[in-house]
Amino acid sequence: MMMSTPINNSYSTLVKQGRALIEGEPNLIANLANLSALIYNSVSDLNWAGFYMVDSDSTLVLGPFQGQVACVRIEIGKGVCGTAVATDSTQRVDDVHAFAGHIACDAASNSELVVPIHYRGKVIAVLDLDSPLIGRFQQQDQIGFEALITELEAHLEKVGL
Ligand code: SME
Repeated sequence: MMMSTPINNSYSTLVKQGRALIEGEPNLIANLANLSALIYNSVSDLNWAGFYMVDSDSTLVLGPFQGQVACVRIEIGKGVCGTAVATDSTQRVDDVHAFAGHIACDAASNSELVVPIHYRGKVIAVLDLDSPLIGRFQQQDQIGFEALITELEAHLEKVGL
């Protein structure tokens, strides 16, 4: 039988902190703003942490984030974020310079993790994390951030958008 990899301790702490931050607050922008600050200030070797929101059938628009100023709009299907939405799958990219169509908002970024966020079965946004280190995001990191996003999705199903 395949056993799924368990979430590690630092990510179970992050998920608990995330839950505590958003619990009882229905405003999506406020919750995404606080989650981006939590991630950026508690996870090592990040130079950008934030969200892009689905704005139409074809476009993502910049949401709450921490880090350098960033591209405002990304076409769905383009770049790492647009690919995560178009394929509805997490994108873990060890070297963004080797990813065809990567959109370079900050020249310092070398690796990236993008996790889709769902509401009522549809992708409504993505979590986007950038690192100056090549290969910063490992399977453990993907599992940990996906658990944080599952927490956010459960909250959205309860309180609505
Ligand atoms: N690199 C992303 C664009 C967003 S920035 O990293 C903040 C991409 O290729 O989709």
